Amino acid sequence: MSILFSPLTLRDITLKNRIVVSPMCMYSSQDGFATDWHLVHLGSRAVGGAALVLSEATAVVPEGRISPHDLGIWKDEHIEGLQRITKFISEQGAVPGIQLAHAGRKASSHRPWEGGGPIFPEEVNGWQTVAPSAIAFSENGPVPHELSLSEIENVIDAFEAAARRSLEAGFKVAEIHAAHGYLLHEFYSPISNQRTDKYGGSFENRIRLLLEVTERVRQVWPKDLPLLVRISATDWTEGGWTVDDSVALAKELKKLGVDLIDCSTGGNVPRASIPVGPGYQVKFAEQVKQEAGILTGAVGMITEARQAEEILASGQADVVLLARELLRDPYFPMHAAQELGAGHTWPPQYERAKPRQ
Ligand SMILES: Cc1cc2nc3c(=O)[nH]c(=O)nc-3n(C[C@H](O)[C@H](O)[C@H](O)COP(=O)(O)O)c2cc1C
Repeated sequence: MSILFSPLTLRDITLKNRIVVSPMCMYSSQDGFATDWHLVHLGSRAVGGAALVLSEATAVVPEGRISPHDLGIWKDEHIEGLQRITKFISEQGAVPGIQLAHAGRKASSHRPWEGGGPIFPEEVNGWQTVAPSAIAFSENGPVPHELSLSEIENVIDAFEAAARRSLEAGFKVAEIHAAHGYLLHEFYSPISNQRTDKYGGSFENRIRLLLEVTERVRQVWPKDLPLLVRISATDWTEGGWTVDDSVALAKELKKLGVDLIDCSTGGNVPRASIPVGPGYQVKFAEQVKQEAGILTGAVGMITEARQAEEILASGQADVVLLARELLRDPYFPMHAAQELGAGHTWPPQYERAKPRQ
């Protein structure tokens, strides 16, 4: 009996297996609107058999976009295009989820295939970025504007409004993006937060914004629907955020009604030394799961069926999130089921191609 292909119930939502499409920016929007690309890209992964299809980082305010081409949910007009996508994903027996995001000081960047890197505010399509403190991400990078207390309040309001719109758009799972050096991570990491008010200094102060955002999102996100938070479990840097901090944070998030911690790492320090290799972040999902007593997701270089099965079977995590492998092979879940000898329903349209077990 495969654990990878066993269901998982989070509140009133049952995932048919443990394979999650990890959020992936497609840099294919104009003014935040979803396009046919999003429908086909996310829809294909739903057809391919993933249980939970998470959208890319979806900006809660325009200045929270990583690039001018990010998906957004800062206005009601965005809802309709997203509805088309959530309807299609749901029709495939998958669960549509949205990652709610604010890129903070790493906003206003070029698309990777246009060179990446910052677009300075005075350049075409660039804008002034914001952060907990006026500290640039990279040497010679643009210096962000330090958010005032009232501007922080606006950020919290924006996450709440985005969660309301997500619900209307048909999403059944919301994930707050608090990883990879984006705004919420910038607040909890001492590397990027040098504030002296109630949002900076002590651990309690640095995690305050994430907790306030979570509380407000949880208030509008229905009790029967799951809420996830993606964190960077470590900054991989001396003097930075650590996995022990992550455990303490996860305990607080659990109290606020978060159902699962999606454990990624890094992103707040350029050129951090990271021992990248197969499953290199799994141990963080394991530690947070064991020590905070909360469900976790493992992500990062999980590319094989048996590897994914082993992560779950050994109790290191409760779901696996795959990004690049699902770009290479949207049908990874079908292939994995075949390899593990697990029963897995194919779309009836594709039934004639199903290999005999
Ligand atoms: C094209 C691409 C876009 C990504 N965009 C996001 C994103 O929007 N939000 C996020 O949390 N992570 C993003 N990531 C990181 C992935 O979700 C994942 O954590 C990372 O790629 C490691 O998993 P993998 O080894 O399975 O690719 C992105 C990764 C890729 C390859």
